[in-house]
Amino acid sequence: MRFPRVETSIEIREKYSRDWTEDLQFLPDAVALPESPEELQEILTYAYERDIPIVPAGGRTGLSGGMLPVQGGWIVSLEKLNQIISIDTRNLLATVQAGVITQDLQEAVEAKGLFYPPDPSSRGSCTIGGNIAHNAGGVRAVKYGTTREYVLGLEAFLPDGRPLRTGSHTLKNSTGYNLTHLLVGSEGTLAIFHTATLKLLPKPLHVRTLLLGFSHPSAAVEAVVQILQKGLLPTAIEFMEKDAVRFGEAYLGEFFYASMEGVEGLLLVEVDGNHAEALEAECLQIEEIAYEAGAVKSWYAQTADERERLWRLRRCLGIAVKSSGPYKEEDTVVPRSVLPHLLAKVKELGNRYGFRSVCYGHVGDGNLHVNILRDDLPQHIWEEDIPRAIEELFHFVISHKGALSGEHGIGWVQRRYMPIQFTADELLLMKGLKKVFDPKGLLNPGKIFP
Ligand code: LAC
Ligand code: ZN
Repeated sequence: MRFPRVETSIEIREKYSRDWTEDLQFLPDAVALPESPEELQEILTYAYERDIPIVPAGGRTGLSGGMLPVQGGWIVSLEKLNQIISIDTRNLLATVQAGVITQDLQEAVEAKGLFYPPDPSSRGSCTIGGNIAHNAGGVRAVKYGTTREYVLGLEAFLPDGRPLRTGSHTLKNSTGYNLTHLLVGSEGTLAIFHTATLKLLPKPLHVRTLLLGFSHPSAAVEAVVQILQKGLLPTAIEFMEKDAVRFGEAYLGEFFYASMEGVEGLLLVEVDGNHAEALEAECLQIEEIAYEAGAVKSWYAQTADERERLWRLRRCLGIAVKSSGPYKEEDTVVPRSVLPHLLAKVKELGNRYGFRSVCYGHVGDGNLHVNILRDDLPQHIWEEDIPRAIEELFHFVISHKGALSGEHGIGWVQRRYMPIQFTADELLLMKGLKKVFDPKGLLNPGKIFP
């Protein structure tokens, strides 16, 4: 191989053949690990001239198969482009390379009294580049929005290696088409970005965390509507079905559920701000609303350790469900008031098609992660009936003005469902954009489009 940074050993190719999506595996022909934008450019130019498909990879924690090399070619992992180039405390900006681990950025800016709100559960291993490619949300989106709201500008390469700069280092920008926001969420299909300029906020001085137990899951999600309707805006409102907690407990080997008799659904709520007393009052108000909506128990995190423990439970759910056996994960999102109906629909489909489901998610955003467990379903049911059930689920979501994915993207596993949300004309427009950026169709081929 011409480049020192391109690996072809079977060990390395296998390592990059999976992300966190189901049990899927696709072997790349090679793995490129550029250590500078110049090396990245050189790799892209070389591959372009030889029609080699390029699939960018970050932390490989994706749940839609976005980095799977489904048509072979090269994985280009951005993990070695992991420098925090600058944290500008006067303008509240950070300029970082795509391979920076999200939690590393969060901690670096917090050490300077600043705050980078996007907070995916996988923050310890996912990268800023991957977050941008999927427009990751995470647990604080209800108050602070998703990754897109923080990306002010990108430095990227087109598939043939020509450089592309989008946006500016300013909070507003009404200049031409917004290529920055087009690249955010484009799942590595339009250009490969290596550097991002991100908006930061001042770090709130205090947080207060509260767990609410409800006798019925639908009461929990109805309480979400009430909380927001009454003028409160928590940092996070996370939902967990009782069974999700059980998966988390089994995974962590810790027990949370002993004192939760009669609880079937939970909300993990966090508020933040600069005045501790105001947060206390907000929590009491949230508690009151929750009890009116059907809560039967509430617990406050009294110490930083207790808070950490609750978040550990919540953050591990994805990997806990995954490690329990084969499953399919749907990243449904609906207007919040539809959540009780969405939950009922999931269970109704489960009864009708014979599957067990575990639901949890960012219900403050209307975003419910629906996990369909394979258990002992025979192959033909798993491969034929379950996709039909998922199709029904998505028809429900779209007819209620929701979307196929709130934050995990379409990638490989959801592309077949795109015609449920988009007309042929709308899909053609998107494909047209793809063609403008990537006329040879070499960037992350086989993704997004059915
Ligand atoms: C979470 C991931 C699965 O919410 O999005 O934990
Ligand atoms: Zn999530």
